[in-house]
Amino acid sequence: MNLKNAILVYATAIILLSSYSTFAQSEKKFFEPGKVWLDTDGKPIEAHGGGVLKHGDKYFWYGENHALGEGNKTGISCYSSNDLLNWKNEGVVLPKEKLPEMFRDKGVCERPKVIFNPKTGKYIMWMHLDANTYSEAMAGVAIADKPNGPFEFQGYKRPIGYDYGYRLDRVPGINPREKELGNAYRDMNLFVDTDGKAYVIYSSEELATLYCSRLNDEFTDIELPAIQGKTWERIMLGQFREAPVLLKNQGKYYILSSGTSGWDPNPADLAVAETLFGPYKKLGNPCFGSDSETTFRSQSTCIIPLPEKGDGSFIYMGDRWNGAALEKSTYVWLPFCMSQYGSVKLVSFDKWDLAIFDSLNKPLTSPVINENPNNSISWKTVENAQAYKIFKNGKMYSITDSTKFTLPVGFWDVSDYFTVQAWNIKGINSKPSVSVTKKWPNTGAVYLSDRIPESSKQGWGTLRKDKSIQLTTLNIAGKEFKKGLGTHSYSEVIYRIGGNYRKFSSWIGVDNFAKNKTVSSLQFEVWSDGDLLYQSKVMRVKDAAERVELDITGTNELKLVVTDAGDGTEWDHSDWAEAKIEH
Ligand code: DGJ
Repeated sequence: MNLKNAILVYATAIILLSSYSTFAQSEKKFFEPGKVWLDTDGKPIEAHGGGVLKHGDKYFWYGENHALGEGNKTGISCYSSNDLLNWKNEGVVLPKEKLPEMFRDKGVCERPKVIFNPKTGKYIMWMHLDANTYSEAMAGVAIADKPNGPFEFQGYKRPIGYDYGYRLDRVPGINPREKELGNAYRDMNLFVDTDGKAYVIYSSEELATLYCSRLNDEFTDIELPAIQGKTWERIMLGQFREAPVLLKNQGKYYILSSGTSGWDPNPADLAVAETLFGPYKKLGNPCFGSDSETTFRSQSTCIIPLPEKGDGSFIYMGDRWNGAALEKSTYVWLPFCMSQYGSVKLVSFDKWDLAIFDSLNKPLTSPVINENPNNSISWKTVENAQAYKIFKNGKMYSITDSTKFTLPVGFWDVSDYFTVQAWNIKGINSKPSVSVTKKWPNTGAVYLSDRIPESSKQGWGTLRKDKSIQLTTLNIAGKEFKKGLGTHSYSEVIYRIGGNYRKFSSWIGVDNFAKNKTVSSLQFEVWSDGDLLYQSKVMRVKDAAERVELDITGTNELKLVVTDAGDGTEWDHSDWAEAKIEH
C-alpha cells in the first residue's frame, strides 16, 4: 500500500469509527422511570402493556407496538436483554397481518404475555383482542418454537360463559353481549405457579370482576370443562379492577391491579390470598409519596421476580400511558420489595439500578436536619438509605428520595412538628431526626384542599384535592369547580383548625361522574368539636349544587362527613366544592 492509499484507508476507518460512536447506543446503567427508553439500536422501545419472560439467562420483553399510534397498526414486539436495562429489538414477533381483520389497524391487540411450556417446549402468547369500540373483548392465543418468534396465531374466543345477572348499565355505551357471547375478556395476565400449572387472569363482567382460570396442559386454552371453584373462579367481585398482575411470595398469592379510568392513571391496589382462587383480602395502595394516588402516573402490567436478589425482590413494571398519543407512552419500572408478610411500599425514584437490592440489611443513621427559610428542611444523604420518611405530629406524612422537603402549611396559630427518618425499600428505618416545630401565622381565607387533614376516611378511594374521587374535574350537575375536595361515602375528613376561624362555606352535591348512577344518594354533614352544625337534604345525581355557609366561631376540630343516606355507598361520589374557612 502506498502512502496515499494508506492515508485513505486510515481516514475511512476514522470516519467509520466516529460515525459508529455517534449512532451506537451507549450502555444503559440506570432505570429512569417515565423517560424515553432506547433499545440497543438507539430507537425508543415499543412494548407497551408488556410482560417479561425469563428464559435461561435471558429476559424477553413482549408488548404492544404503538409506533404508529393507537389501535393495532403493527403487532406485538419482542426485545431481549441480559441485564433488564439494555434491550435488543427482536422484531415484530406477531405481526398484525396474522390476526383476523377486525383486530388489526383500528382494532385492538393489548397486554400480550408469554409463558414457556416445558412439556411441549413451546412459547405461548395470550393477548386481549378487541374491535376499535372495545365491543368484542376476546382472548387470543399464539404459539412459537422460540422465544423471539415467529408466533403463529391459534384463534380467539371468550373463554368463560357465566350468568352473573348481566348489569349492562355498568359501562355506559358498550354492550359486549356477555349473555350471548360469553363473559368479556379484557385486561389480562398469565401466571405460572410453583407446581408448573399456568393460569390466566382477566377483567370480565364489564370490568366489574376478575376471572381466573387454570390453563390446559399445553397452555393453549383454559382447562375444560370449566367448573367454577375447581378450574376457574370469580375474584374481587364488583371491585372494577384492571391491569391485573398475579404473583406469589412466601407461599401466598397477590394481585396487583389498577382501577378503571381508561388511559388515565388511578390508585393501584394490592390484594392477598392463601390460595390462588381466593378469597382475596384488600391490602390497599402500596404506593407512597407524591403521585402515589396515580401509581406514579402509571398502570401495572407485570411484576418481574428477581430471586437472585433475595426473597421478596421484584421489579414493578408499569405503563405511563399517553392516551392522546399512545406512541409517546413511556415505562415506569420500580423496585418492588415484599416482606415475608406481604407488606410492600412502592416509592418512585428518578434513577435507580439493581444494586438497590444489595444494601437492604445495613443499619441507617438518623438524618441531621437543617431548617431553611421558606418553610423547607434539608439534610445530608444518609448512607444506604433509599428514601426518607417525613412525619408530621408523629404520623407518617410523606416519603421522598430527595434530601429536601417543603413543610405543608398549617392553620393559624396551630403548631406542627416534623421529624425525618432514613428508610430502605425493605422497611428498615433509622431513628428519628430531632424535631422541627412550626407555628403557622394567619394566611387569610384557606381552601381546605390546600391544607392537610388530621385524618380522612373514604368508603372508596382516597381523599382528592381539587379533583373528584375519580380524579376528574369537580363537577356538580354540570357546574365545574377548580378547588374543593372529592370524597366518597361513608366519608369523614377531620381538620385541626385551632379555634381562630369564623366562617365555613362550600358547594355540595353528587359528582357528575356518577351522573347515570341512580343508586347514588348521599347526605352531607358538618360537625364542630362533636356538635352537628349542619345536615343537608338527601342529594342525588343531577341535583344542582347547594351552597352551605356556616358560623364556625371557636371550632378546633372541624369534621366533614358524607353518609350514604341509608341506601348503600355504591357510586356515592361526593364533592365539597370550594370548601373554605375564613375569619
Ligand atoms: C385501560 C386498560 O388497562 C388499557 O389496557 C386499555 O385497554 C385502556 N383501558 C383503553 O382505554
